[in-house]
Order: sequence, then C-alpha cells, then structure tokens
Amino acid sequence: MMQTIRGFRDILPKHISLWQRVEKEAIRLFEAFGFKEIRIPILEKTQLFARSIGEVTDIVEKEMYTFADRKGDKLTLRPEATASIVRSYIQHKMYATDPIRKFYMIGPMFRRERPQKGRYRQFYQIDAEILGVESAYVDSQLIFLLNELFKRLGLTGLSAHINSLGCPECRPSFQEALLGFIESKKDKLCKNCIRRMDKNPLRILDCKVTDCKDALADAPATLDHLCPACEDHFNTVKKTLEKQKVDFIVDKSLVRGLDYYTRTAWEIQTTTLGAQSAVAGGGRYDGLVKELGGPQTPAIGFAIGFDRLVEVMEQLNEIPVEKSLDLFIVSLGDAAMEKGYHWSCELNQLGIRTEMDFRGKSMKALMKRANKLSAQYVLIAGENELMENTIILRDMNTKEQVSLALETLVPELIKIFKK
Ligand code: HAM
Repeated sequence: MMQTIRGFRDILPKHISLWQRVEKEAIRLFEAFGFKEIRIPILEKTQLFARSIGEVTDIVEKEMYTFADRKGDKLTLRPEATASIVRSYIQHKMYATDPIRKFYMIGPMFRRERPQKGRYRQFYQIDAEILGVESAYVDSQLIFLLNELFKRLGLTGLSAHINSLGCPECRPSFQEALLGFIESKKDKLCKNCIRRMDKNPLRILDCKVTDCKDALADAPATLDHLCPACEDHFNTVKKTLEKQKVDFIVDKSLVRGLDYYTRTAWEIQTTTLGAQSAVAGGGRYDGLVKELGGPQTPAIGFAIGFDRLVEVMEQLNEIPVEKSLDLFIVSLGDAAMEKGYHWSCELNQLGIRTEMDFRGKSMKALMKRANKLSAQYVLIAGENELMENTIILRDMNTKEQVSLALETLVPELIKIFKK
C-alpha cells in the first residue's frame, strides 16, 4: 500500500471545516487591518534561505529540503515565508512606488524535523509581514492582531512571550558578555554549541539539549544590553499593549530560531501541545531587506503554525461540524434521472447543496443514502409523479411531505432554501 512520506499528512475533509474557519477569520482580520494577499513560490534558490535565516541555524544546517535541479542549481522547498516575501519586495522594486507594504500569505512550509505531535515536515503557516515602518506601534499592532484572532477563534490559555533582541548598535556589548559567560561554561556544553561559539553565539541560547539549557540558565540577556533607542522602542511596545489590555510576559530567554531578528521578538505559547508549545512566532527584522540587496527598510512580521492552532482548537472540543446537505434527489427510472440531473445542476448553480445518485438504485437504497448524507429534504421523482407533472418533497426532520408542481419546482425550492 502506498503511504504518505514520514512527517507529511493528508488533511481529510472531516477536519477541513476547522481549517476553513480559521482561514476565513484570519483573512477577514487581515483585510480589515489593510494587509494584501501575496502568493510566493514553494521552491526558491537555497541561497535565499541560507542568507536570511542564517547559515548557522538548525533550519539551514539540518532541516531544509534541498536538492540540485537538472542544471545543478541548488533549490530548497521553502521552510518559511519571510525570506521569499522580502525577495519579492526587492525583485519587484515595491519600495520605489510605496515603501510601506503589508502582506499576508497562507500555505505549506517544509522542514525536515523529527515528526511528533504538533511537528510535521510539511506544515502550514499563516504569515503576515509589514515592510517600511519603524514605529513601535506596528509591533504592538501585530501582537494585538494575533490576540484578536485567537480571541475570535475562542482560544484561551495562550500567552504572549515578548523580548527585545536589540540592534547592531547594542549587539557587540551583548555578544562580548555572552561569549565571556559561555567560555566559563564550556565544559558543560554540547559539541554543537561549542562549534557555534565563534560563528553564532546567540544560537547557543536556543539549544534544546537539557544540560546546555541548565548551564545557560543565568546567561546574559539581550534585554540587559539594549541601547537607549532599543530600550525606548521596547517600552513603547509594552506600554501600548498594556493600554490595549493584551496580556504578555517579558521573556528574557526568548531568542527565536532565525538569525534575521532585531528588536522586538515574540512567541504565542500554549501549555497543551507538549513540547511544541509555540503556536505563533514573529519579530522585527530591520536589517533583512538591505542584507538581501534592497534599500534600508525596517520590517516586522509573524507566522502562525496553522496545524498547531487547529490542534489546540480540537483540544478545546471544537469538533468540526460537517455541512449537511440541503436536498437529495431520489430519481426512479431513466426519465426521472435525466430531469433530476438538470434540476441538481441548476440548484447547485444557485448555491443550494443538492446531490443525487446516478447508479439506478431502488427507492430504499436511495433513501438510505439521503440519510447518510444528512439531507434536510428529499425530492422524490418517480415515473407516476412525473406523468402527473408533480413531485414529492419530503422534510426529513418532520417527515412531512408536500406535492409540488413540476413547472414551479425550482422557484418553490428557492423559496425554501434561500429563506
Ligand atoms: P518560526 O518560529 O520558525 O517563525 O515558525 C512560526 C510557527 O510555525 C511556529 O511558532 C510553529 O507554530 C510553526 N511551525 C514551525 N515549524 C513547524 C513544524 N515543523 N510543524 C508544525 N508547525 C511548525 C517563522 O517561520 C518566521 N518566518 C516568522 C516570522 C514572520 N517572523 C517575521 N515574520
């Protein structure tokens, strides 16, 4: 039997209504906040992700699906959306006509991580980015937006962890303090951390090995090394969120797993998904547009883990309801089958959920199928009725039956279903 590959999965129709509900609510909110949808390719040059996410990160070092195409170009299945959106902003010179752009996108991402609950190799993100605005108000606005979305979806028990990672101005003093600290703990760190010491010491703070975590519990924090401008920025974010009554926790140890971040960074965490606690993550990346060849442009964004969000909703007993059918046409005999076919197409065109069965089954079998599909009404078209130019409509809840005239059938049905 053919099966999906490890970490890849089908999302079956019985689960889809929850996905669609989230998607609709997110799009409605994005549009209200002035975001525009962007669709980006699933495949990009490897170099794009290596340069943005950072060569010395878990994603780039060991999680990307990278391969050479027939010409030998190195390509990668996108592990995230930010890099591609920035590439698109630069490639289409969007900054020249209007440097301020707000994008959202929803789609699959690929990371070759060890699969477990809440962690897949193909997973989905709902991503939002604002380019061209430096103000701390957009930082709080994005966290406010996330909070509002989760509220609308009925989610409780989530907490926003926020931190500031500083800027190139404050990094050197922080790095110096960090390196000094790491040096004193060197014998307790894993090989990977030792290797990263010179190349990317901030990443050591993100190590998942328990011994490393213990050894680094008191490591210096970026928050204690902020320059006055970053300090001001972070204070405004906090003050604004307080005013808006958005709960948050300042989490000095939050460093995120991607290298492009500057200043505000955050994660929305849940306690209900075991180790995979982050339902969404985001932050500022004021240096990335320039790094990838565009003009200096401040930017900020977040991505929601769509799969995880749905899992949290399912835990809250948000059982997806399958949409029931409006009408099932029971057509007995060839003439009724032909008529039924035309009615069903016409009703479908009008947005009335109508089904019929083309297998020429008996009345009993067709009624059974109508029940299986939870049809609200059944239209019974038999040879005799057609000869009399009438048709029976049965209400499956009350079991009441009425006889309708053929020539006014569709308008009568519209009256019932479009009430
Ligand atoms: P990230 O923290 O790597 O950030 O991913 C965002 C969210 O995607 C995570 O919080 C998690 O919910 C979900 N996620 C990540 N990996 C997996 C996985 N293997 N399986 C299921 N869900 C997963 C980013 O990707 C940044 N691009 C976010 C961003 C946008 N920052 C600025 N703009």
